[in-house]
Amino acid sequence: MTEESNKLKNCSFCGHSKEIVKKLIVGDQVAICSDCVELCQDLILDDESILREIEEPKDPQFDPAAIKEHLDQHIIGQDEAKIVLSVAIANHYKRINNPPKNLEIQKGNVLIVGPTGSGKTLLAKTAAKYLNVPFVVADATSLTEAGYVGDDVESMINLLLTAANGDIKQAERGIVFIDEIDKIARKGESTSITRDVSGEGVQQALLKLVEGTVCRVATQGGRKHPNGNTQEVNTKDILFISGGAFVGLKDIIANRLNGTSIGFNAMVTDSKLEGELTKVSPDDLSKFGMIPEFIGRFTTTVSIKELNKEQLIRILTDVKNNYISQYTYLFSLDSIDLTFTTEALDQIAENTIGLKTGARGLHSEIERVLMCHMFDAKKYRENKILKLNIDKDQVLNPKSII
Ligand SMILES: Nc1ncnc2c1ncn2[C@@H]1O[C@H](COP(=O)(O)OP(=O)(O)OP(=O)(O)O)[C@@H](O)[C@H]1O
Ligand SMILES: [Mg+2]
Repeated sequence: MTEESNKLKNCSFCGHSKEIVKKLIVGDQVAICSDCVELCQDLILDDESILREIEEPKDPQFDPAAIKEHLDQHIIGQDEAKIVLSVAIANHYKRINNPPKNLEIQKGNVLIVGPTGSGKTLLAKTAAKYLNVPFVVADATSLTEAGYVGDDVESMINLLLTAANGDIKQAERGIVFIDEIDKIARKGESTSITRDVSGEGVQQALLKLVEGTVCRVATQGGRKHPNGNTQEVNTKDILFISGGAFVGLKDIIANRLNGTSIGFNAMVTDSKLEGELTKVSPDDLSKFGMIPEFIGRFTTTVSIKELNKEQLIRILTDVKNNYISQYTYLFSLDSIDLTFTTEALDQIAENTIGLKTGARGLHSEIERVLMCHMFDAKKYRENKILKLNIDKDQVLNPKSII
């Protein structure tokens, strides 16, 4: 008898002999007894339950990847911004839903920098909708310090309360998007002698609110009245997202990266530098005119990029509720089948780039192209013209086909 076959009379795992175990399963070169099989089974089950625990997070909707996936359905491109924003939002809501004991996690508000019409407001709006939290867009240009004519900063919280249908608890976990934040930049050294009502003063007024304070807002819409009914809203768990085009910031960044001796125009051709230009530092924002205390409260800064032609075309055709679907639907109400050639879409995107208003220009472009056809839609139908194919010529020179 060989040594090998001898060994297989014992379990290769526990060493017990065939005689004392219930069953010994013998393989080619190993054997396992029924006791060890049972033990293995227990081990596997244990592992599975651990895995299950890991797989089920407390707040599945606050998974950054899930938030990004939702953003992807509505927003083309801006991948980096989507990731940064998703993480910031997920962390914010994880923190306020599960407040840690004996640990202070700082609130991280978000600043989105990027050209007009490229998706800043859309990013914030889409995220808020997904999270099902109250959301308002406030315009920084209309804000003033308390005591001046205009809306004081607390009016934003008033709007949020309205968006939450008066539910304070809901409002206290909402999102406020402050648009055009770059317009409240300090105007330069000269203006600091007088009170800078629309700039630095508003930034100062925003500090407390953004960081977390209890503010009193009117119960019903409208401005506060000294004797009117007011309610307290704590802003500590409200997420503030600011957005602005920050025209001129690119030059500041380029100068920092290359020294002031090189002209900015010479540098934009350098594609490597183009990538670098999206890296905004607190110092750049400070040079732009944002006060350090304000910058400090927006810990996450993210840049979004100008949309290119391919992305504009995808916005026309691919995103949920895209313009092409919207207009196809409108024409279908008159039984007209509206189509576009690839060249036509390309030309619409090309024209839109020329407008320099980002994706916003797509809407006006498509309106311009379809205006005469929308006007004559009823006539088309009456004359049994039930197909309308928009080609490049129609984009360049829209003409009724009747
Ligand atoms: N990346 C994008 N993907 C899909 N649609 C977009 C995108 N960017 C812009 N749009 C479209 O353009 C419109 C305007 O975009 P948005 O309001 O987000 O611009 P913005 O960056 O906030 O500009 P502004 O600085 O002028 O406020 C959106 O409602 C949307 O229809
Ligand atoms: Mg905007």
